[in-house]
Amino acid sequence: MGKYIIEGRKKMIGECDVQGAKNSALPILAATVLAKGTCVIHNCPKLSDIVATINILEYLGCKVKREGHTVIVDSTGVNRHDIPDKLMHEMRSSIVFLGAILGRLGKASLSMPGGCEIGLRPIDLHLEAMRRFGVSISEEYARLECVCEKKPVGTEIALSFPSVGATENIMLLASTATGTTTILNAAREPEISDLADFLNRSGARIQGAGEGVIVIEGVPELTACEHTVIPDRIVAATYLTAAAMTNGSITLNNVIPAHVGPVIPVFEEAGCDVCIRGRNIQLTAPPRLSCVRSVRTMPYPGFPTDIQAPIMAMTTIAEGTSVIIETIFESRYKHVSELLRMGAKIRVDGRMAVVEGVQSLTGAKLVTPDLRGGSALVLAGLAARGVTELSAIKHIDRGYEDFEKTLSALGAEIKRIDDEDEAYRKDYESAV
Ligand code: EPZ
Repeated sequence: MGKYIIEGRKKMIGECDVQGAKNSALPILAATVLAKGTCVIHNCPKLSDIVATINILEYLGCKVKREGHTVIVDSTGVNRHDIPDKLMHEMRSSIVFLGAILGRLGKASLSMPGGCEIGLRPIDLHLEAMRRFGVSISEEYARLECVCEKKPVGTEIALSFPSVGATENIMLLASTATGTTTILNAAREPEISDLADFLNRSGARIQGAGEGVIVIEGVPELTACEHTVIPDRIVAATYLTAAAMTNGSITLNNVIPAHVGPVIPVFEEAGCDVCIRGRNIQLTAPPRLSCVRSVRTMPYPGFPTDIQAPIMAMTTIAEGTSVIIETIFESRYKHVSELLRMGAKIRVDGRMAVVEGVQSLTGAKLVTPDLRGGSALVLAGLAARGVTELSAIKHIDRGYEDFEKTLSALGAEIKRIDDEDEAYRKDYESAV
Protein backbone atom coordinates (compact mmCIF):
# COMPACT_ATOMS: atom_id res chain seq x y z
CA MET A 1 0.00 0.00 0.00
CA GLY A 2 3.00 2.31 0.60
CA LYS A 3 3.35 5.32 2.87
CA TYR A 4 4.66 8.89 3.04
CA ILE A 5 6.77 10.30 5.86
CA ILE A 6 6.41 14.09 5.88
CA GLU A 7 8.41 16.57 7.95
CA GLY A 8 6.18 19.67 8.12
CA ARG A 9 6.67 23.44 8.13
CA LYS A 10 8.67 23.67 4.91
CA LYS A 11 7.63 26.42 2.48
CA MET A 12 6.62 25.43 -1.07
CA ILE A 13 8.70 27.73 -3.27
CA GLY A 14 9.44 27.53 -7.01
CA GLU A 15 7.66 26.41 -10.12
CA CYS A 16 6.31 23.18 -11.57
CA ASP A 17 4.54 21.80 -14.61
CA VAL A 18 1.10 20.26 -14.29
CA GLN A 19 0.35 16.73 -15.55
CA GLY A 20 -2.29 15.89 -18.13
CA ALA A 21 -5.85 15.60 -16.81
CA LYS A 22 -6.72 12.12 -15.50
CA ASN A 23 -10.45 12.75 -16.01
CA SER A 24 -9.81 13.72 -19.62
CA ALA A 25 -7.34 10.98 -20.51
CA LEU A 26 -9.59 8.18 -19.20
CA PRO A 27 -12.65 8.85 -21.44
CA ILE A 28 -10.40 9.74 -24.41
CA LEU A 29 -8.51 6.43 -24.12
CA ALA A 30 -11.87 4.62 -23.90
CA ALA A 31 -12.99 6.55 -27.01
CA THR A 32 -10.08 5.13 -29.06
CA VAL A 33 -12.12 1.89 -29.19
CA LEU A 34 -14.54 3.80 -31.43
CA ALA A 35 -11.90 5.31 -33.73
CA LYS A 36 -10.58 2.54 -35.99
CA GLY A 37 -6.83 2.66 -36.58
CA THR A 38 -3.95 3.99 -34.50
CA CYS A 39 -4.62 6.92 -32.13
CA VAL A 40 -1.74 8.86 -30.60
CA ILE A 41 -2.68 10.47 -27.28
CA HIS A 42 -0.11 12.91 -25.83
CA ASN A 43 0.18 14.30 -22.27
CA CYS A 44 -1.30 11.18 -20.63
CA PRO A 45 -0.31 11.24 -16.95
CA LYS A 46 1.53 8.23 -15.46
CA LEU A 47 -1.15 7.03 -13.03
CA SER A 48 -2.51 3.68 -11.87
CA ASP A 49 -5.92 4.61 -13.33
CA ILE A 50 -4.29 5.02 -16.74
CA VAL A 51 -2.64 1.58 -16.36
CA ALA A 52 -6.05 0.11 -15.47
CA THR A 53 -7.53 1.71 -18.61
CA ILE A 54 -4.72 0.37 -20.81
CA ASN A 55 -5.29 -3.11 -19.33
CA ILE A 56 -8.92 -2.92 -20.46
CA LEU A 57 -7.97 -1.67 -23.93
CA GLU A 58 -5.56 -4.60 -24.37
CA TYR A 59 -8.17 -7.06 -23.08
CA LEU A 60 -10.63 -5.76 -25.71
CA GLY A 61 -8.05 -6.50 -28.43
CA CYS A 62 -6.27 -3.17 -28.84
CA LYS A 63 -2.50 -2.96 -29.22
CA VAL A 64 -1.19 -0.31 -26.81
CA LYS A 65 2.29 1.23 -26.53
CA ARG A 66 3.51 3.84 -24.02
CA GLU A 67 6.27 6.27 -24.93
CA GLY A 68 6.68 8.56 -21.94
CA HIS A 69 3.47 10.56 -21.65
CA THR A 70 2.25 9.41 -25.07
CA VAL A 71 -0.08 6.43 -25.37
CA ILE A 72 -0.45 4.85 -28.81
CA VAL A 73 -3.59 2.74 -29.28
CA ASP A 74 -4.24 0.56 -32.34
CA SER A 75 -7.91 -0.42 -32.02
CA THR A 76 -8.09 -2.29 -35.35
CA GLY A 77 -8.17 -5.67 -33.64
CA VAL A 78 -10.95 -5.00 -31.11
CA ASN A 79 -12.63 -8.41 -30.78
CA ARG A 80 -14.19 -8.51 -27.30
CA HIS A 81 -17.22 -6.66 -25.97
CA ASP A 82 -16.91 -7.63 -22.33
CA ILE A 83 -14.88 -6.25 -19.42
CA PRO A 84 -14.24 -8.84 -16.67
CA ASP A 85 -15.08 -8.01 -13.07
CA LYS A 86 -11.41 -7.98 -12.10
CA LEU A 87 -10.59 -5.22 -14.60
CA MET A 88 -13.79 -3.27 -13.82
CA HIS A 89 -13.03 -3.31 -10.11
CA GLU A 90 -9.54 -1.92 -10.68
CA MET A 91 -11.23 1.35 -11.61
CA ARG A 92 -14.93 2.10 -11.19
CA SER A 93 -14.90 4.84 -13.87
CA SER A 94 -14.41 2.06 -16.46
CA ILE A 95 -18.16 2.53 -16.96
CA VAL A 96 -17.15 5.11 -19.58
CA PHE A 97 -16.19 2.18 -21.85
CA LEU A 98 -19.90 1.35 -22.14
CA GLY A 99 -20.69 3.92 -24.83
CA ALA A 100 -17.49 3.22 -26.74
CA ILE A 101 -17.88 -0.59 -26.85
CA LEU A 102 -21.59 -0.32 -27.75
CA GLY A 103 -20.77 2.16 -30.51
CA ARG A 104 -18.11 -0.12 -31.96
CA LEU A 105 -19.66 -3.59 -31.50
CA GLY A 106 -23.38 -3.08 -30.78
CA LYS A 107 -23.14 -5.02 -27.53
CA ALA A 108 -21.32 -4.69 -24.21
CA SER A 109 -20.99 -6.69 -21.02
CA LEU A 110 -19.61 -4.96 -17.93
CA SER A 111 -19.94 -5.48 -14.19
CA MET A 112 -21.91 -2.91 -12.22
CA PRO A 113 -19.15 -0.51 -11.10
CA GLY A 114 -20.57 -0.26 -7.59
CA GLY A 115 -19.85 2.46 -5.11
CA CYS A 116 -16.52 3.71 -3.82
CA GLU A 117 -15.06 5.60 -0.88
CA ILE A 118 -16.93 8.82 -1.69
CA GLY A 119 -20.41 7.55 -2.38
CA LEU A 120 -22.80 5.06 -3.95
CA ARG A 121 -21.98 6.31 -7.45
CA PRO A 122 -25.20 5.10 -9.16
CA ILE A 123 -25.24 4.81 -12.98
CA ASP A 124 -29.01 5.14 -13.54
CA LEU A 125 -28.53 8.21 -15.75
CA HIS A 126 -26.06 6.30 -17.94
CA LEU A 127 -28.43 3.34 -18.36
CA GLU A 128 -31.57 5.44 -18.97
CA ALA A 129 -29.66 7.32 -21.68
CA MET A 130 -28.38 4.14 -23.37
CA ARG A 131 -31.94 2.77 -23.45
CA ARG A 132 -33.09 5.98 -25.23
CA PHE A 133 -30.82 4.94 -28.14
CA GLY A 134 -32.57 1.55 -28.37
CA VAL A 135 -30.08 -0.39 -26.23
CA SER A 136 -31.63 -3.22 -24.22
CA ILE A 137 -29.90 -3.71 -20.87
CA SER A 138 -30.33 -6.55 -18.38
CA GLU A 139 -28.95 -5.94 -14.90
CA GLU A 140 -28.38 -9.37 -13.35
CA TYR A 141 -25.74 -10.87 -11.08
CA ALA A 142 -24.16 -7.40 -10.82
CA ARG A 143 -23.43 -7.50 -14.53
CA LEU A 144 -24.77 -5.23 -17.28
CA GLU A 145 -25.59 -7.19 -20.46
CA CYS A 146 -26.26 -4.55 -23.15
CA VAL A 147 -27.37 -5.22 -26.73
CA CYS A 148 -28.36 -2.86 -29.53
CA GLU A 149 -30.00 -5.07 -32.18
CA LYS A 150 -30.13 -2.27 -34.73
CA LYS A 151 -27.73 0.68 -35.12
CA PRO A 152 -28.34 3.16 -32.24
CA VAL A 153 -30.76 5.92 -33.23
CA GLY A 154 -30.03 9.53 -32.22
CA THR A 155 -32.43 10.95 -29.64
CA GLU A 156 -33.03 13.83 -27.24
CA ILE A 157 -31.86 13.28 -23.64
CA ALA A 158 -32.51 15.67 -20.77
CA LEU A 159 -30.28 14.78 -17.82
CA SER A 160 -31.84 15.30 -14.37
CA PHE A 161 -28.28 16.00 -13.15
CA PRO A 162 -25.34 17.18 -15.32
CA SER A 163 -23.49 13.92 -14.78
CA VAL A 164 -19.95 13.96 -16.25
CA GLY A 165 -19.83 10.21 -16.90
CA ALA A 166 -23.34 10.01 -18.33
CA THR A 167 -22.63 12.96 -20.66
CA GLU A 168 -19.45 11.18 -21.84
CA ASN A 169 -21.22 7.87 -22.48
CA ILE A 170 -23.96 9.63 -24.45
CA MET A 171 -21.40 11.53 -26.56
CA LEU A 172 -19.55 8.29 -27.29
CA LEU A 173 -22.60 6.30 -28.41
CA ALA A 174 -24.18 9.26 -30.25
CA SER A 175 -21.03 9.93 -32.33
CA THR A 176 -21.76 7.02 -34.71
CA ALA A 177 -25.53 6.69 -34.12
CA THR A 178 -28.01 7.26 -36.94
CA GLY A 179 -29.31 10.83 -36.84
CA THR A 180 -28.90 13.61 -34.31
CA THR A 181 -28.67 13.48 -30.52
CA THR A 182 -29.27 16.45 -28.26
CA ILE A 183 -28.17 16.41 -24.63
CA LEU A 184 -29.98 18.90 -22.40
CA ASN A 185 -28.45 19.78 -19.01
CA ALA A 186 -25.15 18.25 -20.13
CA ALA A 187 -22.07 18.38 -17.89
CA ARG A 188 -19.89 21.40 -18.74
CA GLU A 189 -16.57 20.30 -17.25
CA PRO A 190 -13.45 21.07 -19.37
CA GLU A 191 -12.90 17.33 -19.69
CA ILE A 192 -16.18 17.10 -21.64
CA SER A 193 -14.86 19.67 -24.13
CA ASP A 194 -11.56 17.81 -24.39
CA LEU A 195 -13.39 14.55 -25.19
CA ALA A 196 -15.48 16.38 -27.80
CA ASP A 197 -12.29 17.81 -29.35
CA PHE A 198 -10.83 14.31 -29.62
CA LEU A 199 -14.05 12.87 -31.11
CA ASN A 200 -14.39 15.74 -33.62
CA ARG A 201 -10.78 15.21 -34.63
CA SER A 202 -11.77 11.57 -35.29
CA GLY A 203 -14.57 12.72 -37.59
CA ALA A 204 -17.46 13.17 -35.19
CA ARG A 205 -19.79 16.17 -35.45
CA ILE A 206 -20.27 17.50 -31.91
CA GLN A 207 -21.28 21.06 -31.12
CA GLY A 208 -21.87 22.85 -27.83
CA ALA A 209 -19.50 20.84 -25.60
CA GLY A 210 -18.77 22.91 -22.49
CA GLU A 211 -22.25 24.39 -22.59
CA GLY A 212 -25.50 22.98 -21.19
CA VAL A 213 -26.77 21.77 -24.58
CA ILE A 214 -24.66 19.47 -26.75
CA VAL A 215 -25.77 18.48 -30.27
CA ILE A 216 -24.20 15.42 -31.89
CA GLU A 217 -24.84 14.54 -35.52
CA GLY A 218 -24.07 10.85 -35.98
CA VAL A 219 -21.50 9.86 -38.64
CA PRO A 220 -20.93 6.39 -40.16
CA GLU A 221 -17.62 5.80 -38.44
CA LEU A 222 -14.69 7.47 -36.69
CA THR A 223 -11.06 7.21 -37.73
CA ALA A 224 -7.95 7.38 -35.61
CA CYS A 225 -6.31 10.72 -34.83
CA GLU A 226 -3.65 12.44 -32.68
CA HIS A 227 -4.64 14.42 -29.59
CA THR A 228 -3.04 16.19 -26.61
CA VAL A 229 -4.84 15.95 -23.28
CA ILE A 230 -5.52 19.22 -21.41
CA PRO A 231 -3.69 19.97 -18.13
CA ASP A 232 -5.23 18.66 -14.91
CA ARG A 233 -7.10 21.50 -13.19
CA ILE A 234 -7.53 19.53 -9.95
CA VAL A 235 -3.82 18.72 -9.67
CA ALA A 236 -3.06 22.39 -10.45
CA ALA A 237 -5.37 23.56 -7.65
CA THR A 238 -3.81 20.98 -5.30
CA TYR A 239 -0.30 22.41 -5.78
CA LEU A 240 -1.60 25.97 -5.36
CA THR A 241 -3.19 24.86 -2.07
CA ALA A 242 0.17 23.40 -0.96
CA ALA A 243 1.78 26.82 -1.43
CA ALA A 244 -1.12 28.58 0.31
CA MET A 245 -0.80 26.30 3.36
CA THR A 246 2.98 26.60 3.75
CA ASN A 247 3.36 30.38 3.42
CA GLY A 248 4.96 29.63 0.07
CA SER A 249 5.01 31.03 -3.42
CA ILE A 250 4.79 28.87 -6.54
CA THR A 251 4.24 29.29 -10.26
CA LEU A 252 2.43 26.62 -12.26
CA ASN A 253 3.51 26.37 -15.90
CA ASN A 254 1.35 25.21 -18.76
CA VAL A 255 -2.08 25.30 -17.16
CA ILE A 256 -5.38 26.64 -18.53
CA PRO A 257 -6.19 29.35 -15.96
CA ALA A 258 -9.86 29.45 -16.94
CA HIS A 259 -10.20 25.83 -15.79
CA VAL A 260 -8.89 26.75 -12.34
CA GLY A 261 -11.09 29.87 -12.32
CA PRO A 262 -13.72 28.57 -9.88
CA VAL A 263 -11.05 28.04 -7.18
CA ILE A 264 -9.13 31.32 -7.51
CA PRO A 265 -11.66 33.49 -5.58
CA VAL A 266 -11.31 31.04 -2.65
CA PHE A 267 -7.52 31.50 -2.58
CA GLU A 268 -7.98 35.28 -2.78
CA GLU A 269 -10.53 35.29 0.06
CA ALA A 270 -7.98 33.33 2.10
CA GLY A 271 -5.55 36.20 1.57
CA CYS A 272 -3.39 34.71 -1.21
CA ASP A 273 -2.08 36.82 -4.05
CA VAL A 274 -2.89 35.08 -7.37
CA CYS A 275 -1.39 36.31 -10.62
CA ILE A 276 -2.29 34.86 -14.05
CA ARG A 277 0.10 35.31 -16.97
CA GLY A 278 -0.89 33.45 -20.14
CA ARG A 279 -0.77 29.74 -19.28
CA ASN A 280 0.97 30.35 -15.94
CA ILE A 281 -0.58 30.89 -12.51
CA GLN A 282 1.47 32.27 -9.63
CA LEU A 283 0.20 32.06 -6.04
CA THR A 284 1.87 33.76 -3.06
CA ALA A 285 0.53 32.94 0.38
CA PRO A 286 -0.05 35.46 3.20
CA PRO A 287 1.81 34.97 6.51
CA ARG A 288 -1.51 33.80 8.02
CA LEU A 289 -4.45 32.53 5.96
CA SER A 290 -7.92 34.00 6.46
CA CYS A 291 -11.01 31.84 6.67
CA VAL A 292 -13.29 31.25 3.71
CA ARG A 293 -16.84 32.16 4.64
CA SER A 294 -18.50 29.46 2.58
CA VAL A 295 -17.51 27.04 -0.16
CA ARG A 296 -20.23 25.04 -1.90
CA THR A 297 -19.21 22.33 -4.38
CA MET A 298 -21.15 22.49 -7.64
CA PRO A 299 -20.98 21.10 -11.18
CA TYR A 300 -18.58 23.11 -13.39
CA PRO A 301 -18.25 26.08 -13.65
CA GLY A 302 -18.97 25.97 -9.90
CA PHE A 303 -16.39 25.09 -7.23
CA PRO A 304 -15.14 21.55 -8.03
CA THR A 305 -15.93 18.75 -5.58
CA ASP A 306 -12.50 17.20 -6.31
CA ILE A 307 -10.71 20.12 -4.63
CA GLN A 308 -13.02 20.25 -1.58
CA ALA A 309 -10.74 18.13 0.60
CA PRO A 310 -7.52 20.08 -0.11
CA ILE A 311 -9.32 23.38 0.45
CA MET A 312 -10.78 22.05 3.71
CA ALA A 313 -7.22 21.23 4.81
CA MET A 314 -6.30 24.83 4.00
CA THR A 315 -9.15 26.24 6.11
CA THR A 316 -8.08 24.17 9.16
CA ILE A 317 -5.15 26.58 9.70
CA ALA A 318 -6.88 29.76 8.55
CA GLU A 319 -7.88 32.50 10.99
CA GLY A 320 -11.62 32.32 11.65
CA THR A 321 -14.39 29.89 10.80
CA SER A 322 -15.02 28.48 7.31
CA VAL A 323 -18.09 26.61 6.09
CA ILE A 324 -17.89 23.91 3.40
CA ILE A 325 -20.92 22.34 1.76
CA GLU A 326 -20.37 19.20 -0.34
CA THR A 327 -23.37 18.98 -2.69
CA ILE A 328 -22.08 16.41 -5.21
CA PHE A 329 -21.11 13.26 -3.29
CA GLU A 330 -22.83 12.00 -0.16
CA SER A 331 -19.77 10.79 1.75
CA ARG A 332 -16.84 12.89 0.72
CA TYR A 333 -15.71 13.86 4.26
CA LYS A 334 -13.65 10.77 5.09
CA HIS A 335 -10.55 12.98 5.44
CA VAL A 336 -12.16 14.85 8.38
CA SER A 337 -11.47 12.17 10.98
CA GLU A 338 -7.79 12.15 9.99
CA LEU A 339 -7.56 15.96 10.07
CA LEU A 340 -9.07 15.88 13.59
CA ARG A 341 -6.18 13.62 14.65
CA MET A 342 -3.84 16.45 13.60
CA GLY A 343 -5.63 18.93 15.87
CA ALA A 344 -8.06 20.40 13.36
CA LYS A 345 -11.41 21.66 14.67
CA ILE A 346 -14.13 20.48 12.29
CA ARG A 347 -17.80 19.75 12.86
CA VAL A 348 -19.69 17.80 10.17
CA ASP A 349 -23.45 17.97 9.97
CA GLY A 350 -24.71 16.07 6.91
CA ARG A 351 -23.35 17.78 3.78
CA MET A 352 -21.98 20.73 5.78
CA ALA A 353 -18.58 20.97 7.50
CA VAL A 354 -17.80 23.88 9.83
CA VAL A 355 -14.05 24.43 10.21
CA GLU A 356 -12.71 26.58 13.06
CA GLY A 357 -9.16 27.53 12.13
CA VAL A 358 -6.30 26.69 14.52
CA GLN A 359 -2.84 28.24 14.71
CA SER A 360 -1.19 25.03 13.53
CA LEU A 361 -1.77 21.33 13.00
CA THR A 362 0.52 18.69 14.48
CA GLY A 363 1.87 15.64 12.65
CA ALA A 364 0.21 12.25 13.22
CA LYS A 365 -0.07 8.70 11.86
CA LEU A 366 -2.84 8.79 9.27
CA VAL A 367 -4.52 6.48 6.75
CA THR A 368 -5.43 7.67 3.23
CA PRO A 369 -9.25 7.37 2.85
CA ASP A 370 -9.51 8.09 -0.90
CA LEU A 371 -7.75 9.88 -3.75
CA ARG A 372 -8.51 13.54 -3.01
CA GLY A 373 -8.79 13.05 0.77
CA GLY A 374 -5.30 11.60 0.59
CA SER A 375 -3.90 14.62 -1.23
CA ALA A 376 -5.52 16.84 1.42
CA LEU A 377 -3.75 14.90 4.21
CA VAL A 378 -0.40 15.29 2.43
CA LEU A 379 -0.95 19.05 2.31
CA ALA A 380 -1.91 19.05 6.00
CA GLY A 381 1.33 17.17 6.75
CA LEU A 382 3.34 19.75 4.81
CA ALA A 383 1.90 22.52 6.99
CA ALA A 384 1.87 20.67 10.34
CA ARG A 385 4.44 20.86 13.13
CA GLY A 386 6.40 17.63 13.40
CA VAL A 387 6.21 14.42 11.37
CA THR A 388 3.19 12.93 9.60
CA GLU A 389 3.08 9.30 8.46
CA LEU A 390 0.41 8.66 5.83
CA SER A 391 -0.28 5.05 4.84
CA ALA A 392 -2.35 3.44 2.02
CA ILE A 393 -1.04 6.01 -0.44
CA LYS A 394 -1.94 3.81 -3.43
CA HIS A 395 -5.16 5.84 -3.51
CA ILE A 396 -3.06 8.93 -4.31
CA ASP A 397 -1.18 7.15 -7.11
CA ARG A 398 -4.52 6.97 -8.96
CA GLY A 399 -4.53 10.71 -9.62
CA TYR A 400 -1.19 12.37 -8.85
CA GLU A 401 1.88 11.58 -10.96
CA ASP A 402 5.16 11.74 -8.99
CA PHE A 403 3.39 13.60 -6.20
CA GLU A 404 6.26 13.33 -3.70
CA LYS A 405 8.89 14.21 -6.34
CA THR A 406 7.07 17.39 -7.37
CA LEU A 407 6.49 18.46 -3.76
CA SER A 408 10.13 17.72 -2.85
CA ALA A 409 11.30 19.86 -5.77
CA LEU A 410 9.22 22.70 -4.29
CA GLY A 411 10.88 22.30 -0.89
CA ALA A 412 8.86 19.63 0.90
CA GLU A 413 10.52 17.05 3.17
CA ILE A 414 8.52 14.03 2.00
CA LYS A 415 9.75 10.44 1.73
CA ARG A 416 7.95 7.52 0.10
CA ILE A 417 8.30 4.02 1.55
CA ASP A 418 6.77 1.33 -0.63
CA ASP A 419 5.74 -2.04 0.78
CA GLU A 420 8.71 -3.87 -0.71
CA ASP A 421 11.04 -1.26 0.84
CA GLU A 422 9.17 -1.58 4.10
CA ALA A 423 9.30 -5.39 4.03
CA TYR A 424 13.03 -5.20 3.27
CA ARG A 425 13.55 -2.73 6.14
CA LYS A 426 11.62 -5.00 8.57
CA ASP A 427 13.59 -8.09 7.44
CA TYR A 428 16.84 -6.14 7.78
CA GLU A 429 15.93 -4.80 11.24
CA SER A 430 14.82 -8.23 12.47
CA ALA A 431 18.01 -9.77 11.06
CA VAL A 432 20.33 -7.25 12.72
C1 EPZ B 1 -16.48 12.44 -12.60
O1 EPZ B 1 -17.10 11.37 -11.90
C2 EPZ B 1 -15.03 12.45 -12.12
N1 EPZ B 1 -14.39 11.19 -12.45
C3 EPZ B 1 -14.99 12.67 -10.61
O2 EPZ B 1 -13.62 12.76 -10.22
C4 EPZ B 1 -15.67 14.01 -10.29
O3 EPZ B 1 -15.70 14.19 -8.90
C5 EPZ B 1 -17.11 13.97 -10.84
O4 EPZ B 1 -17.09 13.71 -12.26
C6 EPZ B 1 -17.82 15.30 -10.62
O5 EPZ B 1 -17.13 16.32 -11.25
C7 EPZ B 1 -13.96 10.97 -13.71
O6 EPZ B 1 -14.13 11.80 -14.59
C8 EPZ B 1 -13.26 9.67 -13.98
P1 EPZ B 1 -20.95 12.42 -12.03
P2 EPZ B 1 -18.59 10.87 -12.33
O7 EPZ B 1 -21.57 11.38 -12.89
O8 EPZ B 1 -18.71 10.90 -13.81
C9 EPZ B 1 -24.70 11.30 -9.34
C10 EPZ B 1 -11.71 12.23 -8.99
O9 EPZ B 1 -11.41 12.43 -7.80
N2 EPZ B 1 -25.04 10.37 -10.43
O10 EPZ B 1 -20.93 13.84 -12.50
O11 EPZ B 1 -18.86 9.60 -11.64
C11 EPZ B 1 -23.51 10.79 -8.54
O12 EPZ B 1 -23.96 9.88 -7.53
C12 EPZ B 1 -13.10 11.75 -9.34
O13 EPZ B 1 -10.94 12.42 -9.97
C13 EPZ B 1 -26.28 9.72 -10.39
O14 EPZ B 1 -27.06 9.90 -9.46
O15 EPZ B 1 -19.45 12.03 -11.68
C14 EPZ B 1 -22.93 12.02 -7.94
O16 EPZ B 1 -23.67 12.37 -6.79
C15 EPZ B 1 -13.96 11.51 -8.12
N3 EPZ B 1 -26.58 8.85 -11.39
C16 EPZ B 1 -23.17 13.08 -9.01
O17 EPZ B 1 -24.20 12.55 -9.87
C17 EPZ B 1 -25.73 8.61 -12.43
O18 EPZ B 1 -26.09 7.82 -13.33
C18 EPZ B 1 -21.94 13.40 -9.83
O19 EPZ B 1 -21.62 12.30 -10.58
C19 EPZ B 1 -24.49 9.29 -12.45
C20 EPZ B 1 -24.16 10.16 -11.45
